[in-house]
Amino acid sequence: MEENQVISMPRIGDKAPEFKAMTTQGEINFPHDYKGNWVILFSHPADFTPVCTSEFMTFASMEQKFNEANCKLVGLSVDGLYSHIAWLRTIKEKIEYKGMKDVEVTFPLIEDITMDVAKKYGMIQPGESDTKAVRAVFFIDPNGVIRTIIYYPLSLGRNFDELYRVLIALQTADEFGVATPADWRPGDDVIVPPAGSCGSAKDRMDGKEADMKCYDWFFCTKKLDKDEVMKKILKK
Ligand code: BEZ
Repeated sequence: MEENQVISMPRIGDKAPEFKAMTTQGEINFPHDYKGNWVILFSHPADFTPVCTSEFMTFASMEQKFNEANCKLVGLSVDGLYSHIAWLRTIKEKIEYKGMKDVEVTFPLIEDITMDVAKKYGMIQPGESDTKAVRAVFFIDPNGVIRTIIYYPLSLGRNFDELYRVLIALQTADEFGVATPADWRPGDDVIVPPAGSCGSAKDRMDGKEADMKCYDWFFCTKKLDKDEVMKKILKK
């Protein structure tokens, strides 16, 4: 990569950068083809590498769960289409990992040999590698807005339960107008937005908000039933 080249890094709240690309499932026009869905766009360093293989098998095994939460998966690496096809065929035919075998990857895997898409998304981080994408994860909402970004280095495989937890937490925040505290999982109490006036701060501390538990005026939680959360998210 040229010295002093400016690498754009999309931020949370930005519109997802647009691109057209060839994938293992045909051409995609991103993010337009995904309007109305959540989408997780994730990069991995290279085909035919072991950590990436374990990740693809895990994500493919969980794809239905993500789809049921109105979320599509799209992968990318700085490799060509034929390499992608050969690698996905090898995964299905030969690789067994943590009880997963015969795994078919049916979500699109973008070919990005030119690194055009990877550079648009800040997936090339030269301190780590200037030819391989880091393990980036972009959560993009149904309006095409980036809502969460997580980066991992080359050596560290992602935790896919955490990625699912993030997806459900983002949708819970949107659907119920709440925030989710540390380590939140569906069924745990949620955080209600801070009091917006001295009057409502007093009401909260006087116990006038029956469904809230206030530890102080700025820190109030309420119960949110797991079934209620999942019914709302999974029904869409
Ligand atoms: C892997 O996926 O195994 C891997 C890829 C690039 C660097 C190190 C590990």
